[in-house]
Amino acid sequence: MAKWRCTVCDYIHEGPEPPETCPVCGVDASFFEKVEEAAANPCQDEVKKALRHITYGLYIVASRKGKKINGQCANTVFQITSEPVKIAVGINKNNLTHEYIQDSQVFSVSILDTNGLGLVRNFGFRSGRDADKFAGMEYDMGTWGYLC
Ligand SMILES: Cc1cc2nc3c(=O)[nH]c(=O)nc-3n(C[C@H](O)[C@H](O)[C@H](O)COP(=O)(O)O)c2cc1C
Repeated sequence: MAKWRCTVCDYIHEGPEPPETCPVCGVDASFFEKVEEAAANPCQDEVKKALRHITYGLYIVASRKGKKINGQCANTVFQITSEPVKIAVGINKNNLTHEYIQDSQVFSVSILDTNGLGLVRNFGFRSGRDADKFAGMEYDMGTWGYLC
C-alpha cells in the first residue's frame, strides 16, 4: 500500500491516493507527497521516523530589500532565551528571504494558527523570485521597517 506524507504536519496516510483533506491539519490533497520506498540505509529510515515525532510550529518569516518585500513559510523558529529576547530561525541560504534578511538585517515572524494554513501554499511552495507573494495581501510595516 502506498504511503503519503502531509508536508505541513507530517501525518502519514496509507492508500492508493492521498486523502482529500488531511485529518490532522486540514490541508488538501495537493499538500501530500508520496513516501519513497525504504532508504538504502535502514537506520536512516528509523531516524526519519523519529524526526516526525519532533513537534514544531508554523510561521511566515518575512523581510525586505530596499522597497521590495518577501516572505517564506518556516517551521524552524524557536525561542532561545526570553531575557534577553533571543530566537533562532533556520532559513535556507538559497531562499530569496535569506537574501533579503542578509541585506536589510531585519525580519518578522508571523505565527500561524489553523486558520492560516492557506498561507502555506503561497509562502511555502514557491519563491518570491517567481511571484509577488504579498500581492493582494494585507500587512503592516513595523517601525523598523520590518513586516508584522
Ligand atoms: C511546512 C513548511 C515548512 C517550511 N519550513 C522551512 C524552514 O524552516 N526553513 C526554510 O528555509 N524553508 C522552509 N520551508 C521552505 C520555504 O518556505 C520555501 O523554500 C519557500 O519557497 C522559499 O521562498 P523564498 O525563495 O521566496 O524565500 C518550508 C516549507 C513548508 C511548506
